[in-house]
Formats: sequence, C-alpha cells, structure tokens
Amino acid sequence: MPATVIVGLQWGDEGKGKTTDVLAEQTAMVVRYQGGDNAGHTVVLGNEVFKLHLVPSGVLYPHIVSVIGPGVVVNPATLIDELDGLSARGVDVARVRVSRSAHVVMPYHIALDRALEMRLAGEAVGTTHRGIGPAYSDRALRIGLRMEDLLDPQRFRHKLARTLPDKNAGLARTEGMPQFEVDELADKAAEWGRRLRPHMADTTWLVQDALARGEQVLLEGAQGTLLDIDHGSYPYVTSSSPVAGGACTGGGIGPLQVDEVIGVMKAYSTRVGSGPYPTELTDEIGKGIAQRGREVGTTTGRPRRVGWFDAVSLRYAVAVNSVSSIMLNKLDILSGIDEILLCVAYDVDGERVDSWPSSADVLARATPIYERFPGWGEEIHGVRALADLPENARRYVAVLEDLAGVPIVLISVGPERSQTIERAARPLRRGVARPPSTAGVHPA
Ligand code: IMP
Repeated sequence: MPATVIVGLQWGDEGKGKTTDVLAEQTAMVVRYQGGDNAGHTVVLGNEVFKLHLVPSGVLYPHIVSVIGPGVVVNPATLIDELDGLSARGVDVARVRVSRSAHVVMPYHIALDRALEMRLAGEAVGTTHRGIGPAYSDRALRIGLRMEDLLDPQRFRHKLARTLPDKNAGLARTEGMPQFEVDELADKAAEWGRRLRPHMADTTWLVQDALARGEQVLLEGAQGTLLDIDHGSYPYVTSSSPVAGGACTGGGIGPLQVDEVIGVMKAYSTRVGSGPYPTELTDEIGKGIAQRGREVGTTTGRPRRVGWFDAVSLRYAVAVNSVSSIMLNKLDILSGIDEILLCVAYDVDGERVDSWPSSADVLARATPIYERFPGWGEEIHGVRALADLPENARRYVAVLEDLAGVPIVLISVGPERSQTIERAARPLRRGVARPPSTAGVHPA
C-alpha cells in the first residue's frame, strides 16, 4: 500500500480536504506535514460541515489515526479548542497524535506577525495573523519552543525566559502591540501540556510503523505550491514547504517511501492575501465564480481573489511535486459561463514566457496570454462519469490534462463525497499510463 502525498497545485484552498475524504475508506493514517492553523480544511459529511485548522481531516473517520507531524507549527490553544469542538459533536479524538518535535506558536508570535505586517504597510504579505512566520523563524534560529517542552514546565520556563525579552523589545517598536510576562505564559503552557500530553507522540515512528505494516498513509499538504517558501512567489508566500518534498521532512518519511503524489487543483484559481496574480478577475464573471464557489477564507473569513486557470504555474507545480495524478475540483462552479479563458503563457516585457517565474517582481509584470473555450450551460452536480459531462466541459478537462501532462483521475462536481467522477486507476509513479485518450476534443 502506498504513501500518498496530497498537495495543492495553486495558492491553497484547492479542496485537499475533499481528496482525503474520497480516499478515506482505504486509508489508515492521515498526516499533516507543514503549516499551522493558518490552514483551513472544510469537509462536508452528509448535512454536517466541519472546518478544521490543525487536526487532519482524517479525524472524522473512526478507523483513521490523525497525525500532526514535526514540520507543523502548533498553536496549542487552537488545537485544544478544535479537539473540544470535535468531541462536542461526537467525534472521537483519541486517535489524534501530535509530534513532540513540532514547534509551538506562542501568543507573542501572533503579535509579532501583526506587528511586522503593520510595519510593511503597503507591502504587507497579507498573512493570516496566526504567527506562522515568527514561529518558523524561531525554529530556524534554534530558539523555538517545542511541544515536548510543554511537558516540562521548568524547562519551558527557562527557555521562555531566555527569549521573551527580545520578543517584547521587538513588539515595543510597533505602536499598540502588547507585552508578555514569563509567569503568565508559563502557566498557560503548563495547562496546554496537561491537556495535550495524551496526544503527544514520536510521530515519525508512528508513520514508519504504519508504512512497515503496509498501511495506506496519506500525507496531507496545507496551503499550496505557489505559497511555498522556496517555490512560490516570494515574498508573498507562507513560511513552510507545502510542496510534496515537504512531506518527507515535515512528516518523517524518506523520498523513496512516497509512491504517489496527487496534485489538487480547482478548475479556476483563487488566492488569499497580497501578491501578484496575473489571471485575477475583478469583473462580474469573477464575482460570479466567487459567489457560486463560496470563495471565502476558512481561517480569516477574507474574500478570496478569483481568476482564470493558470497553466503556466500548473506545469511548474506538476514538475516540482512530481505529481503522478490530479484531482480537479469545483468544475461545477464554471457551469453557466459563456466563454472560459485559460492562461497558457505570460507576456513579460513584450516576450512570451512559458515557465513560472517564482519571483514576485517578474510575476507582477506578467500579462496572461489566454486561450478561449466555449463554456457549458448545464448544471453538472449529478454527473458521475466523464462521458456524461457536457462536451465543452469534457474538452476543458482534456485540455487541462494535456497541459499538466499527467492524468486527471478525480473530478469533483459538488462538495459532497459522492459528487465525484472517478476515472481510470491512479498511476503510482509519475509518467506511467495515462487514462484513455480524449483526443479530438482539444482546440485546433
Ligand atoms: P501566513 O501563512 O499566515 O504567514 O500567510 C502567508 C500567505 O499565505 C498569505 O498570503 C496568506 O493569505 C496565505 N495563506 C496561508 N494559509 C493559507 C491557506 O490555508 N489558504 C490560502 N492561503 C493561505
């Protein structure tokens, strides 16, 4: 049984939670490998909508062990709230495990995130204000506090007392920012430790043991490739590695243990926060997509920016993640649009550019070069086979697949698990068989 990485191919919010949901039956373990409570996964189960930030969406299935890996930054207060909220709705959270090595997002990280954004003013990243960047920077500086430290109040207090003066000094430089006391934070941390002790584990061995038993492990990425700290449009990115490689470092597996990488993308694009976005739509079509697609940030409630699909970034995302197959989400949202545009290249300073420039400066100068496709009027929520999609929808899917160079194996036509078109068997490694040819539906 494979270790499968689920990775976002766009700017996050591609619907990775639904991919996990569709694969849940055969899955024994779901692992989060990066990010923190900046993420938001929405899972619809029957009439119930669950919005999760830290706990992997596998928690909703009684047979799945949910793991928060060492590469995640954990706000303990959010985690406790989420566990309590799930318990209150009858979900058994006893199988949630959090790595003892994961770093803690402290209240001063959140304040520092806000302070930095205020200082950047017009050039702010538009972060979720969850303290993600400051927590990861403390990790890199080797002054971070880890989950295991919560279990030893003396050690926690000692480490906190070493760093807090610097944090307070940093905060004092921005008007209106709070100051923090060692005693108050240490007391809070001791309480977090008491609550979370039963969930803490050496998760690397949990994952390794599951793989050794031949169980299916899903490594669930948060955010997306274009927000990756190395591969996204820096500096308008998050502070972790959402790409599939991040699943190895942040989840505790080796590259040769990954058998399958499912890239997840929407039939159009969205972005939350600042930064260049060549295919952004600010007209009525964009508003319509945003409204039908309910494109509002799960974590911050901010409206998401909406745009046409960008195949330039798709090719890059397929390459850097070694994507073996694709789940295409929200195809139904495009129903009713007369003409659908698809960006196949950029014009940068008068030159045609086919490759994604991960520099925000270059991206800001990129104008999309579009191909145009006739849309379809029919609602497609009830469609369960590719052949039953309207011809123009099939053509759009075929073109996306052609541009990606890997098969689209799952197509979502509605939020529920059943509203999914499953195609040919998923290839495990990149470059293996493609599904039956859809030749003849490509534009001339
Ligand atoms: P941070 O991760 O809060 O530092 O935010 C950095 C950038 O990533 C901002 O543009 C956020 O809007 C974006 N971002 C962070 N998490 C998500 C997510 O789960 N979905 C979409 N965008 C996100």
